[in-house]
Amino acid sequence: MCKLQYVEVPLKERNYRIYYGYDILACCVQKLKELTKDKEVFIVSDSNVYAQYGSLLEKLLRDHGYTWDSHIIRPGEKSKSWQEAEIILNKILEKNLSRNSALLALGGGITGDLAGFVAALYKRGMTFIQVPTTLLAQVDSSVGGKVAVNHPLGKNMLGTFYQPAAVWADLSTLQTLPQAEWVAGLAEVLKYAVIKDEAFFYFLEEQADKIWSRDAEVVPHIIRRCCQIKAQVVGEDERDEGLRNILNFGHTIGHALEKATGFTEYRHGEAVAVGMVGALYLAELLGMVNRESTDRVKRLLEQWQLPTTFSSSLIEDVLTSLQYDKKSLGKQPVFILPEKLGKVVIKRDISREIIKQCLIKLVK
Ligand code: NAD
Ligand code: GLY
Repeated sequence: MCKLQYVEVPLKERNYRIYYGYDILACCVQKLKELTKDKEVFIVSDSNVYAQYGSLLEKLLRDHGYTWDSHIIRPGEKSKSWQEAEIILNKILEKNLSRNSALLALGGGITGDLAGFVAALYKRGMTFIQVPTTLLAQVDSSVGGKVAVNHPLGKNMLGTFYQPAAVWADLSTLQTLPQAEWVAGLAEVLKYAVIKDEAFFYFLEEQADKIWSRDAEVVPHIIRRCCQIKAQVVGEDERDEGLRNILNFGHTIGHALEKATGFTEYRHGEAVAVGMVGALYLAELLGMVNRESTDRVKRLLEQWQLPTTFSSSLIEDVLTSLQYDKKSLGKQPVFILPEKLGKVVIKRDISREIIKQCLIKLVK
């Protein structure tokens, strides 16, 4: 039996492993029999990813005696919809797959969120395996069980918590990821350092160039560290009732910026980059951190060519969108603010005046 490196997500009877490493897909498929006795599999993927890795996955399944059917979506947020979920559910129902059959989500966060949503609904939950192929999905969206589709009234508005039975993060797939997608994932990597691990932040600073160029020695380290942090947080607060909020560092302003620009101008990670700088400005305005911490985070984001400002024409729209954040209490947005690099707190009572001052600092 082949050996794999993994990080465990500690959820008692629903513990699962995030397997990670280069060229691990063959070994993961070999281990599939530990997760399901059923020989029928269903694959959800997007057309970009399937063109690259579909035939490899199909060959591995065939070699191990599985049969499969698939549903390939168009890349992009529009596919993360109720309508697309229904099409997939209809297909699986027509095949009358058992709830022990595995649904494999091969792709980025869009594929994973959509496929997980389907897996949660099908016969009250079928075996679900995340096979993430973007950096963002490998360090964040494939772990922790948040699954959702979008609604015309908001992103991720229909969803639930449904944990995968395993995550297969094959780092080789990252080689074909466009640089802009790689960099967008780096924003989430930096997030973990700021919320939980100052030493990891130093590591990112020291290795910034190698990280940018996806050096094969540093990539496994960053994936492992991010997954360890996410696994620990999810293990303590699976349903996002307290501690898990810290994973939203940079997301309050980030989501508002995505919403204010109709989800077309910024990749999620790019908006989070701006939002992290915003959170640091807020923390500075409240006397919680010094200027040096903000400058270091900004420098690293700029080195990776991530945005740290937005257009002044968006200020009012961003302010309005902030009131509609999913995590708002009343119309009061919730912010995750650093006390130092590696430690954050949850703040709910920041005045509109201070928020506006922060946004003014953020505009070009
Ligand atoms: P994505 O799934 O759209 O992938 C980005 C692009 O890269 C797509 O065009 C895709 O076709 C392409 N691609 C993916 N893997 C590739 C590969 N290996 N080689 C070449 N091209 C590849 O986007 P994403 O950034 O992975 O995910 C964003 C989504 O994740 C958003 O919908 C967001 O809401 C969600 N998300 C969910 C969570 C969660 O906890 N569930 C967390 C963060 C983000
Ligand atoms: N991406 C935020 C969370 O999983 O809670």
